[in-house]
Amino acid sequence: MTVMSGSGVGIVKGSSIGSVDVVCGLAWGDEAKGKIVSDLLCKKKYDWVCRWSGGSNAGHTIYINSKKYTTHIIPAGVFYGIPSYIGPDCYVNIEDLDEEMSYLKAHGFNTDLIKISPKCHVITYGHKLEDALKYKKQQGSTGKGIAPCAKDKFGRTGIILDKYIIDNGFNTNVFNPLKHIWCHEKDKLAGDILCEGAQGFWLDINYGCYPYVTSSFTLPYSCCSLGFPPQKIRHIYGAAKIYDTRVGIDPSFPNDMDTDTTLQSIGDIGEEFGSTTGRSRQVYWLHLDKLIESITISGCTHIVMSKTDILEKVGVFKLVTDYELKEFLTLIEMKDYITTILKQKCDLLQKIIFSDNPETVEGL
Ligand code: IMP
Ligand code: MG
Repeated sequence: MTVMSGSGVGIVKGSSIGSVDVVCGLAWGDEAKGKIVSDLLCKKKYDWVCRWSGGSNAGHTIYINSKKYTTHIIPAGVFYGIPSYIGPDCYVNIEDLDEEMSYLKAHGFNTDLIKISPKCHVITYGHKLEDALKYKKQQGSTGKGIAPCAKDKFGRTGIILDKYIIDNGFNTNVFNPLKHIWCHEKDKLAGDILCEGAQGFWLDINYGCYPYVTSSFTLPYSCCSLGFPPQKIRHIYGAAKIYDTRVGIDPSFPNDMDTDTTLQSIGDIGEEFGSTTGRSRQVYWLHLDKLIESITISGCTHIVMSKTDILEKVGVFKLVTDYELKEFLTLIEMKDYITTILKQKCDLLQKIIFSDNPETVEGL
């Protein structure tokens, strides 16, 4: 029996939802979540791939047959022919969404698979303008209109997608509300679901260095806003890097990179610049104490720590542990140390995987 009122997600009563796996960021975004999502999609079968938070401020890099694609709001299911859903806690600018759909369609992907909640809040031209004039300068935002839209959402003066379309119509190339907006009677979230996180733990509105945060709930618990109970969550895959990076303003993030040539080399060799804004990222050594906190609170069962190849190329191996800098002679020594500490301190963690290339993860 279809539930006709309430969430609007159109869940069939009973146990139509199978298992839910979640990919989340454990740092400040840019932890190679796209690679993990893509790898999981190659290896496991999912019925839906969903985005639960954020908007076009994200930048997810996916390699398909060694060709690089970047998405901002559309979940990666569309690359693999899997229905992809943008949930009600996302912020959407219709022109940006249309542009991304056009890009995917032009590359031969089936954009008919994309569904979007009628309850997403719409980012208007005014929101983008306010973001560019105020938040971009003061807080280093991406300028995509997220904070002003969130201000309206929580002030209950925002505009949700279906109301916006009814009032304003649409003038888009590929985005067709009749086809893409989630329909109560036709669409239902069912089967196994992969939830694709955006941003990261230390950008979360509650856990980050407020107000230098984003306006979303980035922790995995919040994926339940898509329309299923927390008991359905099976695996939580946390994405991390073997060094830390931060794009945008954050007084809590060390700015040693300005004077430290080793950190500069990591940034150069690791190509640490934003895929959404092109800005260069501040780089610092991995803060293991913070990582333990983000893994523990997120409830990760697996973590993938990427970019070990970059440290290997630079040839310097350091991290912060017990709030002090510790140096290792080799990458192997550093990886062993990380593994030992994480196994000791993170109860729910079943698997730690190190990854040394931008395209795949071995051992998931
Ligand atoms: P906003 O999300 O555009 O409001 O930006 C708020 C803060 O989050 C800024 O410091 C941004 O640089 C940062 N941020 C937002 N999205 C991402 C992301 O996908 N990766 C890395 N940083 C991000
Ligand atoms: Mg990114």
